[in-house]
Amino acid sequence: MWRGVLLALLAAPLVSAAVEVSSPDGRITVAIEVSDRGEPQYRVQYGSEEIVAPSALGLRFKTQHAFDSGLSLSAGQVTPHSSSWEQPWGERRQVTDQHNERVVSLSSEQGRFMLRFRVFNDGIGFRYEVPEQPGFETVEIVDELTEFHLPQDSTAWWIPGRGWNRYEFLYRKTGLGDITLAHTPMTLRLPSGVHLSLHEAALVDYAAYVLDQRRAGVFQTSLTPWSDGIRVKTQAPFKSPWRTIQIAPDAVGLLNSDLILNLNEPNKLGDVSWVEPGKYIGIWWAMHINERTWGSGPKHGATTEETIRYLDFAAEHGFDGVLVEGWNLGWDGDWFNNGDVFSFTESYPDFDIQAVAYHARKKGVRLIGHHETSGSVTNYEKQVGAAYDLYETLGVRQVKTGYVADGGDIKRVDSNGVAHYEWHDGQFMVGQYLKSVQEAAKRKISINTHEPVKDTGLRRTYPNWITREGARGQEFNAWWNPPNPPEHTAILPYTRMLSGPMDFTPGIFDLTFQGPDSDQRVETTLAKQLALYVVLYSPIQMAADLPENYAERPDAFQFIKDVPADWEQSVAVAGEVGEFVVVARQERGGTDWYLGAVTNEKARDVKVPLSFLSDDGEYEAQVYRDGDAAHWKTAPYEIAIEKSIVSSDSMLVLKLAAGGGTAIRFRETGAVD
Ligand code: NOJ
Ligand code: CA
Repeated sequence: MWRGVLLALLAAPLVSAAVEVSSPDGRITVAIEVSDRGEPQYRVQYGSEEIVAPSALGLRFKTQHAFDSGLSLSAGQVTPHSSSWEQPWGERRQVTDQHNERVVSLSSEQGRFMLRFRVFNDGIGFRYEVPEQPGFETVEIVDELTEFHLPQDSTAWWIPGRGWNRYEFLYRKTGLGDITLAHTPMTLRLPSGVHLSLHEAALVDYAAYVLDQRRAGVFQTSLTPWSDGIRVKTQAPFKSPWRTIQIAPDAVGLLNSDLILNLNEPNKLGDVSWVEPGKYIGIWWAMHINERTWGSGPKHGATTEETIRYLDFAAEHGFDGVLVEGWNLGWDGDWFNNGDVFSFTESYPDFDIQAVAYHARKKGVRLIGHHETSGSVTNYEKQVGAAYDLYETLGVRQVKTGYVADGGDIKRVDSNGVAHYEWHDGQFMVGQYLKSVQEAAKRKISINTHEPVKDTGLRRTYPNWITREGARGQEFNAWWNPPNPPEHTAILPYTRMLSGPMDFTPGIFDLTFQGPDSDQRVETTLAKQLALYVVLYSPIQMAADLPENYAERPDAFQFIKDVPADWEQSVAVAGEVGEFVVVARQERGGTDWYLGAVTNEKARDVKVPLSFLSDDGEYEAQVYRDGDAAHWKTAPYEIAIEKSIVSSDSMLVLKLAAGGGTAIRFRETGAVD
């Protein structure tokens, strides 16, 4: 009988001022309450440390009463969850999802909504859920009031939100006081050494948010507005994306978190065996360093002949694809500002698309498609069906899309022919990017989005959204002065990469392509270019340099040929944000392991125990390290390639040069007796 009473008590909603939910290991606790004016708020505790001080929650609408005060709270029980699921491709095959969930209902006479909290051992997520109710048939959100009240004296790594260059800024390392608007993921180191990453998961049919510091240490989720100022246009029922805080005792802990993926919906596409991870080369860097042009003329890059040269090189060296940019009509003149004239089905006369596609098929290599919209998305939307149909018939399985336009300058033309200018991370574009992915999926095509909206883990739901840009990639080294500094790739893993894969395009071998004295160069050593293949995760990895530059260095090139792009498991081994990082990954379906280590401008020795290797195996370590005299500026090409026998008991000391790195393949040689 007592059991029955107890169960009845648990099932009844608790009406109280503060409800709590903790992580499975008990270390993280979220408390949700309403103030005496009925204002909802939450706070987060990590062990004995307050990570988020009491912070507001709520929504404001154009026509309905706001969900910000006068609310009473009731809560369901805590529901534990434990499962694991398999990724079709990824950093690891198996992902464990262990969390405790609690749903809190908030209501007043004017309306009601729910907050769903999930607390994992590596952080928290919560979302707004507005059920169907009278008066909410059309909803225009004018503000989301969610706040993160963060510990003073924290250090943050961040890029500005709503800037002209979208997400393509260098990261800044500052105290909280210097932050105005910041994109997520934003990473923080608290005075205690605990690390946080603020972000969001499952951004669908909603605006992305940037962090807006309203008062000292208090950051609000500022939803990116439409051109008319409304932030989200929807109708009940609707759900917001998950607001997330990843929490780890140290920097490396953040890298081993799967929280963002766990908060996304499972695969909606069914059989996705047609989504193919792999490596590619492309008619690409040649344009960025001005040796070729996208547009027509004597230096046109995308000619039939040049494409065949790349296809043959790809076939000879085991690459899966060849990207061709500048093949379609519309690149002549100022292509940056001329998006309306792009055709996505007609090619320049010197590019025989049928012939190159035929040659690719014959050689067992895939042509990789390219669509640059220059931000004229209505022009793209009109052609997208026919454009993907064409690629499907040619056997193309991947398309790289591009949305080059300043922030706030995406051109949307309405049904009256009137142009409006939108942000890359507003609700309109969030919808456009997903539409392109869904249209592509119908034709078994995967999408690599450049100038994207930030990644929020939708690759779990749509596994054909295979990678994206969304940060300063290699291209900046070709034409931006100053180029990416050595620390850039030691920051990316702890910031941008926490959101998902990036098409950074590593592998430049001709690091000083404008001569040894030019500032326009790649500020890394050669070994660091190799290490990036392991450090910067993407299921499609480009070997970005020209074929002739690889032909000149076959020894170093061997690592790019060997390194896989799809993994059984991944372990971040050591590192500090902006200083260095060491990552080990095991080949999907194989026994080999790979290691990548990169440092900033500081040379350092890093000890790495090889305990990630299988206990009963013996491995040949094929080491590509900085030569003893290597330095990104004075001796970038100094590289040493060595072999040794190691096992899981071994300890390696990696000697990283200034701006340098180490790449290692561990090839299993057989079981130890
Ligand atoms: C910007 C992209 O990031 C780059 O990869 C591409 O080559 C150009 N746009 C042209 O589409
Ligand atoms: Ca770009």
